[in-house]
Amino acid sequence: MLRRLACLLALWTCACDAAPAADAGPPPEDGRVDDADAGPPPPFVEDPRWFRHAVFYELWVRSFQDSDGDGVGDLPGLTSRLDYFVELGVEGLWLMPTYPSPLADSGYDVADYVGVHPDYGTLEDMDTLLTEAHARGLKVYLDLVFNHTSRAHPWFVESQGDPSGPRGDWFVWADEAGEGCEGAAGPFGSVRWTRDETRGQFYFHQFYPEQPDLSFDEPSVREALLDVTRFWLDRGVDGFRLDVPYRYDEDLPVCVHRPGTFDFLRSLREVTDEHDAAMVGETLASPEELGRYLAPDVLQMGFLLAEATIFWVAAQTETAGGLGRAIDAVVAETPLEGGTFATVLGNHDLQRTTAAVADDPGALRVMAATQMTLPGVPFVYYGEELGMLAGGDFIVDSRDSARTPMQWDAGPNAGFTEGAPFLALAPEHETRNVETLRADPDSLWSFYRRLIALRTSTPALTTGNYQRLSSPNRSTLVYWRRHPDGDRLVAANFGRGSAALDLGVPWEAVRDALGEAPVGAVEGGRFRGELPGRTVWVLGAAE
Ligand code: GLC
Repeated sequence: MLRRLACLLALWTCACDAAPAADAGPPPEDGRVDDADAGPPPPFVEDPRWFRHAVFYELWVRSFQDSDGDGVGDLPGLTSRLDYFVELGVEGLWLMPTYPSPLADSGYDVADYVGVHPDYGTLEDMDTLLTEAHARGLKVYLDLVFNHTSRAHPWFVESQGDPSGPRGDWFVWADEAGEGCEGAAGPFGSVRWTRDETRGQFYFHQFYPEQPDLSFDEPSVREALLDVTRFWLDRGVDGFRLDVPYRYDEDLPVCVHRPGTFDFLRSLREVTDEHDAAMVGETLASPEELGRYLAPDVLQMGFLLAEATIFWVAAQTETAGGLGRAIDAVVAETPLEGGTFATVLGNHDLQRTTAAVADDPGALRVMAATQMTLPGVPFVYYGEELGMLAGGDFIVDSRDSARTPMQWDAGPNAGFTEGAPFLALAPEHETRNVETLRADPDSLWSFYRRLIALRTSTPALTTGNYQRLSSPNRSTLVYWRRHPDGDRLVAANFGRGSAALDLGVPWEAVRDALGEAPVGAVEGGRFRGELPGRTVWVLGAAE
């Protein structure tokens, strides 16, 4: 367990190290920013697909709402909370794995791809969730974990016991422990082989030993996984988050971004297209590699390699250039007519955003406002909108600190359960909860709600072009989002101190769509104002 903790902590550190460096050179003094620095605006292509205009919300059913007092969240509990998403303004829900599982990796060890974990309910409960979600205009995405199964999956049990049988080659077996993956170690430490006493051979796994890798060399494996996908689509699921798709196919020691992976993703794309469903991949690729995953016949959405850390580093260092350059690079590599990237400030593998920025309320706000105004489909991780703190109770590993029960109200167990919660609640749930924060128009929750409403009602912020301007100082990120329905000029200040802005604008007067107060004056085609610390302005023409 200690080794697991160390590996995961290392994962965090690595991610931080991978974040772009700060801007070099002294900043200009006068805050003057000119479009001429940015070159011609990129071409505009409208994308009518619903997810380009939506905000997603990731949650763990186990932690969201218990309905029967056993201390574990379940599907009926989630269904009873659906109005919350409508109120918050999110449209897509990504559910972490809901399948039967021994929970050696919180459900990412799947024992049955076409069932529901008994703790969470039944297939009928899933059907009810889908019906009720659709009635509210919400879409439900399940987590497809296809790189590996659980050791408890009947496919693995059969493969173990019958090497020459039909599933004998469904996993990666060898007489000797072979080599692992080249380059970076696997996410959970070194990639390894584990000896299986039943079969008298070693099997390969990129994650925990409880998660044997499936062999994508086997056509029957690929067919079986496509059938799983069809099963859920036929039941009404709207799409999928793909778990580590870049690791599906391996030719040791090469484990990532292999041609076989892309072939299988194209097959998945055909199946999902038949149902008008979409996928978001945990692609964790460089901008160039991500561009390949977002080709028109591969994925509709993919997460960035640097994930949340580009936002954290900007807030921690009060320096925005690294974030700006990372987004520039991804935008440049994203095919115009293909998929789009997706952004996060946190997720179930990362520390809580509050832990990442030392619980600085201004940092949380500037990160959220930037995420909601940049291109890329935003995914909010449950509790982020409350500024939930890290928990201290671990079951599987340190990632549990960001998986504590959702905080609904100031009552016992924050309204999550009437029983004993399976994982201790995070500190300060008496104040950091939906009921308390919703009553305060200045709270982080209310800010999130305004931000989401602003994004989803402003075409410039969803599908509008992105063009970054050279920053007036190190702490500031300035970018155009341009759309035929109206342009927006966003100025984000990651620093604590205020920043003078002097921007060329085509308007006679400007208005900040996020704040109430006037923000500055336009004179001779230039807008001049003092952008307060940890603040984002979303500027447009004043009516
Ligand atoms: C992904 C998941 C993570 C899981 C791993 C193995 O990275 O996000 O939670 O442990 O895959 O399935």
